[in-house]
Amino acid sequence: MGASLKEQLDDLLGKLNPGSVIGVDIGAHSLKVCELSGGPGKFKVERFGIFTLSEATLIEDEVQKPSDIIDGITEALTQAGITSKTACLGLFGPNTMTKRLNVPEGTKEEIEDHVLWESEQYITFGADDSQIDFFILGENEGGGNDTIVAAAKNELIDGFSDLLKQAKLNVRIVDLNVIALSNVFEEVMKDNLEEYSEGTLLLDFGAQSTKIIVYKRGGPIFTKEIPVGGGLVTEEIQRQMGVSYAEAEDLKTTTDENGNLPQEILNIIEVQLEQQLAEVRKNINFYVSQGGAEKVNYCFVTGGSSLLPGLIDKLSEIAGIPVERLDVFSRFKIDEKRINANLEELSAIAPVVIGLAMRTS
Ligand SMILES: Nc1ncnc2c1ncn2[C@@H]1O[C@H](COP(=O)(O)OP(=O)(O)OP(=O)(O)O)[C@@H](O)[C@H]1O
Ligand SMILES: [Mg+2]
Repeated sequence: MGASLKEQLDDLLGKLNPGSVIGVDIGAHSLKVCELSGGPGKFKVERFGIFTLSEATLIEDEVQKPSDIIDGITEALTQAGITSKTACLGLFGPNTMTKRLNVPEGTKEEIEDHVLWESEQYITFGADDSQIDFFILGENEGGGNDTIVAAAKNELIDGFSDLLKQAKLNVRIVDLNVIALSNVFEEVMKDNLEEYSEGTLLLDFGAQSTKIIVYKRGGPIFTKEIPVGGGLVTEEIQRQMGVSYAEAEDLKTTTDENGNLPQEILNIIEVQLEQQLAEVRKNINFYVSQGGAEKVNYCFVTGGSSLLPGLIDKLSEIAGIPVERLDVFSRFKIDEKRINANLEELSAIAPVVIGLAMRTS
């Protein structure tokens, strides 16, 4: 059966309006879709949809329950009222990588050749089977051009693109979630970017992983994903309280009328935070130690698990720098009539998908 007239029209409109894509962020706990209007300095979140996935739908970057993801995307799009069909897909995990490279001056072709040649050694999943993209950030003070290379394995791109296709979306742009987050951060901090560009740590505390981004000199200089996150807290609640995944999720996030969690849940969270933040600390040590050449001065956190009670205080203690939640809606406008959500929670879980929806090319 051929595409319906409406599908053909949507496809055509997508082509006529190349600037607009919807963001699709497939997370381990939930998938999110988002549509923006406006442009740099005046973006507005017009539509946002979320679908909570069942336990173990996604393990690392492997989809265990493809039909749940396809149905989830359709459901989230309907809920959000999104009819646009052109998407920017966010990727993550061990079959993706970013690398900051300093490349000698040259023509565009020379720079490209150099980037492709030099980045090969960093693409552990095989440069020949990957898509490689790069952006030139600008000239480096010490000479050459600062560039960011991003790569993803073809198999990963194809696998997720196929799921989106089955949910009737066309993938026009593929991005990495860590780059999307860095782009959102830049947009939110536009007015003070010079200061933050001296060294800022961005941490995205998700369900199955924590994303570490060191932002410096106009872009990310380091990105890493480590396997700690809110899912481990849920597992521990399941184990200790003898409850199901869904019940444990509820226990973790349902507060009493004063906004407090039961003491036994708080105790589990505290022990987990201790362990998980120790792991984070190991990975950021180089950037937060006194006297380090690449020292960062600030830290902003995102991700649903950044809402865990005690996280901000513990993190600033171990990192020795001020830690704040990234307040996306200090910059992005939002259609509050259409999007009925707690803005603090939305600001935690939405940055990646907003960053994906920001892409125009
Ligand atoms: N209010 C809250 N307090 C504590 N944890 C929360 C709260 N709201 C959500 N979470 C947790 O945050 C996690 C989901 O956050 P997020 O949507 O950022 O993750 P994800 O994108 O699905 O996962 P990942 O990025 O690891 O693939 C879940 O573990 C969820 O239990
Ligand atoms: Mg996520």
